[in-house]
Amino acid sequence: MQITRIHPSFVAEVSGLDLRQPLNPAQAAAVQDAMDRHAVLVFHDQAITDDQQKAFARNFGTLEFATGNIQTSDERRLAFDMADISNLDQNNKLFARDDRRRMFNLGNLLWHSDSSFKATPAKFSALSARAIPSAGGDTQFADMRAAYDALDDATRAEIADMVTHHSLIYSRGLLGFGEFTPDEREKFAPVRQRLVRRNAATGRKSIFLSSHIGEIEGMPRPEAMALIRDLMEHATQPQFVYTHKWRLHDLVMWDNRQTMHRARRYNDVGEIRDMRRTTVEDIAPTLQQAA
Ligand code: OGA
Ligand code: MN
Repeated sequence: MQITRIHPSFVAEVSGLDLRQPLNPAQAAAVQDAMDRHAVLVFHDQAITDDQQKAFARNFGTLEFATGNIQTSDERRLAFDMADISNLDQNNKLFARDDRRRMFNLGNLLWHSDSSFKATPAKFSALSARAIPSAGGDTQFADMRAAYDALDDATRAEIADMVTHHSLIYSRGLLGFGEFTPDEREKFAPVRQRLVRRNAATGRKSIFLSSHIGEIEGMPRPEAMALIRDLMEHATQPQFVYTHKWRLHDLVMWDNRQTMHRARRYNDVGEIRDMRRTTVEDIAPTLQQAA
């Protein structure tokens, strides 16, 4: 197994590992260690099945259920423990432009950390490219440790103990999507998260940002959202960002505790982009983890 850093502060390419095969304990530990260190890992030429992808992800924690969308269970294309990041419905047909599931899914174009809207958010996500469009559809990642390190002392002190509220209703609202049913409003009720978190393995701190944030406790909303915007702008400067241009059968894994990501636009009403994500949960809500 070879690990080569491809960005100054994070992201490495891993070769010499066949993800169709079960990892042995030493391999799993090496991948976990590389994730702590590099926060995003790129594996090329991994033509895996859904079951192989789930087995790979289980090396790093408990698979989460993909409940972060508005599909009903009979509208699902994939099993409940796989997030469908495609533009396809349950019959493998492209979503129409005005399909509300499509409009909801466009929220992935905003910088976020996966499942930060859940009480226990995501630890790692692994995204497998099964079909890619001819243009667009890159994925960008931002290093929230480097962004934290680059804050001035006053800002670091100011945000140290802040608690934010995250919800899918807030992120979709940023794009002007607000048509939620009462059931969805209940399912997507805001959850509390720390704004600054610390990686237990490395001791490094990061800013836990996400477009799902809609509130900072103890602060009027406009003031909170202006601060979050400032932090977002800071954290997504070019020096903190890596752009992944997908090749078919790439698998990219990222640490949601230490990075943000977003999809870039593509012709999603004309071309298929079939991406499938396995996600493992973090060990506890962020407020129950050491600051
Ligand atoms: C995800 C995600 C971005 C993309 O899989 O969680 O946000 O480029 N994907 O599809
Ligand atoms: Mn995501």
